[in-house]
Amino acid sequence: GELLKWEGAFAEVYSTIQTRSDNGEYGPTLLGTVPDMDKASALQALDAACNAYNKGQGLWPTMKVEDRIACMEKFVSQMKTRRAEVVKLLMWEIGKNLPDSEKEFDRTVEYIYYTIEDYKQLDRDSARFAKHGGVYAHIRRGPLGVVLCMGPYNYPLNETFALLIPALIMGNTVVFKPAKHGVLLLTPLLEAFKNSFPEGVVNVIFGRGRVVAAPIMNTGRIDVLALIGNSKSAIALQDQHPNKNRLRLVMGLEAKNPAIVLPDADLDLAIDECISGTLSFNGQRCTALKVLYVHEDIADEFNRRFSEKVDALKFGNPWEPGVMLTPLPEPGKPGYIKELIDDAVSKGAKVINKKGGELSENYIYPAVLYPVNKEARVYSEEQFGPVIPVLSFKSIQEPLDDMAESNYGQQVSLFGKDIKTLAPLIDTLVNLVCRVNLNSSCQRGPDVYPFTGRKDSAVGTLSVHDALRSFSIRTFVASKDN
Ligand code: G3H
Repeated sequence: GELLKWEGAFAEVYSTIQTRSDNGEYGPTLLGTVPDMDKASALQALDAACNAYNKGQGLWPTMKVEDRIACMEKFVSQMKTRRAEVVKLLMWEIGKNLPDSEKEFDRTVEYIYYTIEDYKQLDRDSARFAKHGGVYAHIRRGPLGVVLCMGPYNYPLNETFALLIPALIMGNTVVFKPAKHGVLLLTPLLEAFKNSFPEGVVNVIFGRGRVVAAPIMNTGRIDVLALIGNSKSAIALQDQHPNKNRLRLVMGLEAKNPAIVLPDADLDLAIDECISGTLSFNGQRCTALKVLYVHEDIADEFNRRFSEKVDALKFGNPWEPGVMLTPLPEPGKPGYIKELIDDAVSKGAKVINKKGGELSENYIYPAVLYPVNKEARVYSEEQFGPVIPVLSFKSIQEPLDDMAESNYGQQVSLFGKDIKTLAPLIDTLVNLVCRVNLNSSCQRGPDVYPFTGRKDSAVGTLSVHDALRSFSIRTFVASKDN
């Protein structure tokens, strides 16, 4: 069943992890509650953000750079004291394994420090003057206004903060809505927000999107919609805004990143990278490899060795050592993955690993499908879970044409050795996606690198450096003398 149960003014948050209770029953545990806000409370949070921004004249948007940094430093030092609670909730709420949960927390802390440093640099740069045609210009970056931030369940801390932190430091005020799964783990940090920022600068809304987020958009008072998630919710929210021309967007959306394995690839390396690329956090990453193209000369060997490795992966609870595969937080996900497998099989694919598709209540063992017909749903839908479509190709033009036709354009992984083959291919691939990973799986980090995509995969660019720009506007003071 659903892990979030709405019970009047509060929502009960249940764990993804199932345990045996005192009476012997097996099931999710009640982890805690969060408020189930109504429209009026959500609009109050918006009012607070608008008042704090005060059309650019509030305390926060006009605050000196060093004072804003001091608030952020205070926040991050208080945040660090809550590491254990947040890591524990990452495991229980969304089933992320221990090393990845710790990484998510530490990476977020690091992200905040990098943001502070980059912001200082931006300020130093703005102290420089340009002079053209007798006019001196003193460039500054100013805030955009009130930002609605919404992060996804797969990185409920890190990606929510990858929007929130740069938006804040640039002087915007923020309303943020935690993801449906991973909502509780943000609550230990709310006190740190309260202690560190002036009133109304950071506002959280709990509740169902259509009850709390849609009415906020509907007021037309949101200047920036910052969202990492699926295109459907992104479009639905934008549609609520009465004046879309005024609304700025910063969005990380869906992707269908392919791996292309050339005949001269180092197979050990390619297989290992494809394992982590397809299955870390059970494939629930926008950057996950979601389709594998393997050259026909090596397809049999690749498939055999890849499938054996998939079957050797350990499934278990997130805190158990060596566990890569963990329970899935979305109750409908195992059934959906099963549908994709059945559909691909009905169109000619085989499940080529022994354990593929083994189903339990909140898990489905990863299935490797080969050869996948392009009519199969798993070929075009973003599966966001443990199912791996494999296709073989004869000419490199086949995957290139598919990528050119795709609605997505985030990243690609390219495996091969001969630089004479790789170099021209890379030149083409960078025109189809935004990041080419050479002999490695796709990923967002390190967070200083631009994170974006072509077509339906993104709007604007995230990363420490780019996000400061995405959440601000370039302004300048012009004068005749220096
Ligand atoms: O869900 C998409 C995330 O941005 C993936 O980030 O590559 O660090 O796992 P990651």
